[in-house]
Amino acid sequence: MCNMELRTQSPIWALFLMLGLLSQVCQSVSVHFLDPKPLYVVRGETLVLRTEIDIRTKQAVPTVVWEHMPSDPKHPTRVKVAEYPGQAPNQRIFIEEQGAVLKITNFVHDDSGVYTINVTDHLGHIASAQHVVEEYLAVYHVSVMVNVSHTSLHCKEAWGTQPVFSWLHEQVKVDGSQGHVSADNSTLYITAHFCGKFTCVVSNKLGHSSATYTSEPCERKGNAGTVVVVCLFLLLIGAGALLFLLWRRRRQHRSRGERLREYDCPL
Ligand SMILES: *[C@@H]1O[C@H](CO)[C@@H](O)[C@H](O)[C@H]1NC(C)=O
Ligand SMILES: *[C@@H]1O[C@H](CO)[C@@H](O)[C@H](O)[C@H]1NC(C)=O
Ligand SMILES: *[C@@H]1O[C@H](CO)[C@@H](O)[C@H](O)[C@H]1NC(C)=O
Repeated sequence: MCNMELRTQSPIWALFLMLGLLSQVCQSVSVHFLDPKPLYVVRGETLVLRTEIDIRTKQAVPTVVWEHMPSDPKHPTRVKVAEYPGQAPNQRIFIEEQGAVLKITNFVHDDSGVYTINVTDHLGHIASAQHVVEEYLAVYHVSVMVNVSHTSLHCKEAWGTQPVFSWLHEQVKVDGSQGHVSADNSTLYITAHFCGKFTCVVSNKLGHSSATYTSEPCERKGNAGTVVVVCLFLLLIGAGALLFLLWRRRRQHRSRGERLREYDCPL
């Protein structure tokens, strides 16, 4: 019945309804970060957060507010860091592209935490997005743990950002002949004879650090050959000494015999 009325009485009314809905959709505002992954910033460098603000009514400039919630649990309060239009609260903070980009120079640990951008259009619609920012930390305290069954070595690192693991055996990069590694390269499963020095190297863009596990020395083919030669040599010396002793005893025997004969002679 209602439909009937709408269709028969006022197609213009329906048109207004549609226009109303359309303008609602068009005037809505949205905001998102270009890269959703957490952002790691090295101390002293510049923190750059880029967002894309979508607003259909181009003639109306939205207002933008940036807020910061420090990760330090001692100060869990949200602080306004910048707004557009407006003045930046200090000389380290810059707003660009009508509030869509926030830059903080000379990054310090206290700048890490969660950043929120709120965008309000001229009708009062608010769009909001959040981003995690953390300090990029150097690789720290690398250690290698051996599995009791001696089948694997596990490499650990304390808190470095985005650590990359790799293994050396006797200073040479481990290849398939030694064993295989876990998906993140932190564990080395040894399939060959377990011997020698294994070094785990952990690196990120601030540098690298390593730790070495030393197992029993590897027995080399060359060494085994040397051992055989030395043994043979000792055996020969031994045999020579024995022969010499035998020869001397026989000579002494004979000369004593001759002396005895000499004594015999005058009788
Ligand atoms: C920004 O948005 C968040 C989440 O929507 C809200 O909790 C916060 O109060 C807003 N801040 C301002 C200044 O509007
Ligand atoms: C040693 O390795 C075996 C097999 O890879 C595993 O089941 C065991 O839990 C490991 N032991 C330790 C102490 O990590
Ligand atoms: C593991 O090591 C290999 C070879 O060194 C390398 O290509 C790969 O990117 C490493 N994977 C990870 C997750 O670090």
